[in-house]
Amino acid sequence: MAGITITGFNHIAYPISTRAHTLPLYRDILGLAVIPSMVDGPAVIWTQMESGTMIHPIESSEPGKLGTFHLAFGVESVPDAIASLEASGIEVTSSGERYDGQEFAFVNDPDGNRLEFASANNRKPHGRVCDEWGVTTNGDGPASRHQKSDAPIRVLSAEHAAVPVTDRKRAITFYRDVVGLEIIPSMVETDGLTWLGLPNGSMLHLVETEQGDAHTYHGGFVVEDLDGAINTIQQLDAENINIGDRLDGRRALHFDDPDGNHVELVSNNPARSGHRVADEWGYTKDI
Ligand SMILES: [Fe+2]
Ligand SMILES: [Fe+2]
Repeated sequence: MAGITITGFNHIAYPISTRAHTLPLYRDILGLAVIPSMVDGPAVIWTQMESGTMIHPIESSEPGKLGTFHLAFGVESVPDAIASLEASGIEVTSSGERYDGQEFAFVNDPDGNRLEFASANNRKPHGRVCDEWGVTTNGDGPASRHQKSDAPIRVLSAEHAAVPVTDRKRAITFYRDVVGLEIIPSMVETDGLTWLGLPNGSMLHLVETEQGDAHTYHGGFVVEDLDGAINTIQQLDAENINIGDRLDGRRALHFDDPDGNHVELVSNNPARSGHRVADEWGYTKDI
């Protein structure tokens, strides 16, 4: 069996109310490019950061109620990933192929968090075009990409994604032993966190909470200029603004998007490591 070869994050999905309410933050402030969606559902918006990793805001189907979050790992081969997941007793809840040839498969982690495994984008021509709100149609025009050149913040890449878990060992057994991520030392002073590394240097953070809670879920995105980003977000009067320094020398800004989703922006300086060690369950101490 070939196993699961993770390449990084393909996308991080956020449940939003409406695109009119929330897309301006992601497009006009964070500077993400709006690109054609490769799925039929009109609720899904595809946006992309500099690295190619995407953020998918997904509109609610029920007014006043947000949908669910999910996280998508990029993999080299979706059929190999499916074979490997099923061999470990994990049920694949749906799978298929998108307009651009991207294959995907959905599973639930042991806490019921929705996870997706997706192959690379743009595996075949698709002709899809979108407007600046991400509304996508089949067409034959040139590839469309809508990005504000004057956005005050520039998101470069996904540094990490964080998911809520209720049982640390059960979650680690899945993410480490089935998905194949590597335990790495945590660079924050709290025991309720497990850091896992993806082969491309991105990270998954498992956050222990009493019960899976949607606000725990978030993406951590590297920005070109964190001080500038702090200024911008403070001027927006975003909710739950929180700034912290990590033990690896990186600084992080936390805030809520207009729908109360937790967003984190991370400074672009090299991370300092080597002064902490983690055991097999991610418990970390200084050396
Ligand atoms: Fe997705
Ligand atoms: Fe985080």
